[in-house]
Amino acid sequence: MLLLACWWSAFGADDPPPTEPTDAESTDPVDGEPNVAPEEAPEPAEPPEPQAEPPEPQPEQAPNLMVGHFVEATTTMLAVAVNRVDVARSHAQRIVDTAGAPDPLVAAAREVADCKKVSCASEAVGRMGSTCADCHLTTGHGPVPHDMGAIPGKDARERHIYAATFAWVGLITPKQPTLLMGLSNVVPPVDRDTMSDKVGHAADAFRASLAEAVAAESLEDRAEAFGQVLEGCAACHEQTLETRERSRR
Ligand code: HEC
Ligand code: HEC
Repeated sequence: MLLLACWWSAFGADDPPPTEPTDAESTDPVDGEPNVAPEEAPEPAEPPEPQAEPPEPQPEQAPNLMVGHFVEATTTMLAVAVNRVDVARSHAQRIVDTAGAPDPLVAAAREVADCKKVSCASEAVGRMGSTCADCHLTTGHGPVPHDMGAIPGKDARERHIYAATFAWVGLITPKQPTLLMGLSNVVPPVDRDTMSDKVGHAADAFRASLAEAVAAESLEDRAEAFGQVLEGCAACHEQTLETRERSRR
C-alpha cells in the first residue's frame, strides 16, 4: 500500500493524495500528510504523452471528494488483489461513510464492505469500478488522466503494480487504451523453471481472464471481467506473497 503516492502521480493529479491510507485507524482526511519517502515516488519513465482531451471545467463534485474516492477505491482494489479482504472492506466502508458520496457509489461500496471472501469482493470491486465509469460517462465529467503513455516504475515489481493501477484507472475513467495498456503489462515476469506448478497454473488462468477483459465491450461486461481478473491476482499472490507477509510480522 505504500506506493500509493507514486500511483497517484502516475495518475496525473496535481496534488498529492490527502492521506496515506493505512491498515490501521482512519486518519484525518483533510490534514493527513502523505508520509511516503520521496525515493518511493520515481518520475515516470517516459515523457508525458500529449494530452488527448483539454481539461474540462469541473463544476459538479468537490474535487477533494473525488480524490478521496479515488484513493479509497484504488486501495480497496489493491487490497483485494493481495488477499487482504479485511483491509479492502474497511476502505470500502470509508466510501460508504463519506458525507456527500454519490448514492450509486455508496451502494457499490457497501457491497464490497459486506463481502468476506475474495471471490465476492473481487466481483463487487469490478462493479464499483463500473459505477465510477458510468457516472463519468453520463455526466461528461470525470478524471482526465495524463502521463499514461507508458508504464513507469524502476523495477519489475513497481511496473507490475503500476500496470495493475493503469488497468484500474482505465476501468474507472473509463479509458479503454489505458485499461488495455495496464492489462497487457500486468503479468509479472515469472520464471517457469523455478516456480511451482501452482504459480504456473495461477498465471495461466490469469492470462485467460485477461483475454476476456480485453474482449469485453460494455461497461457491465468489463466490470465482470475485471472482477475475474482481480480474483486471479489474489490467486497468484496466495502462492507468491505468503512468505513476504509472514516475514513482515
Ligand atoms: C455520481 C457521479 C460520480 C460517481 C459515482 C463517481 N464520480 Fe468521479 N467524478 C464525477 C464528476 C462530475 C467529476 C468531475 C468533477 C470533479 O473533479 O469533482 C469526477 C472526477 C473524478 C476524478 C478527477 C478528480 C480531480 O480532481 O481531477 C477522479 C480521480 C474520479 N472522479 C474518480 C472516481 C472514482 C474512482 C469513482 C468510483 C469509486 C468515481 N469517481 C465515482 C462524478 C462521479
Ligand atoms: C502470476 C502471478 C501474479 C499475478 C497474476 C499478479 N501478481 Fe501481483 N505480484 C506477484 C509477485 C510475484 C509479486 C511480488 C513481486 C516482488 O516483490 O518482486 C507481486 C506483487 C504485487 C503487489 C505488491 C504487494 C506487496 O505486498 O509487495 C501488488 C500491489 C500487486 N502484486 C498487485 C497485483 C494486481 C492488482 C494483480 C492483478 C491485476 C496482480 N498483482 C497479479 C505475482 C502476481
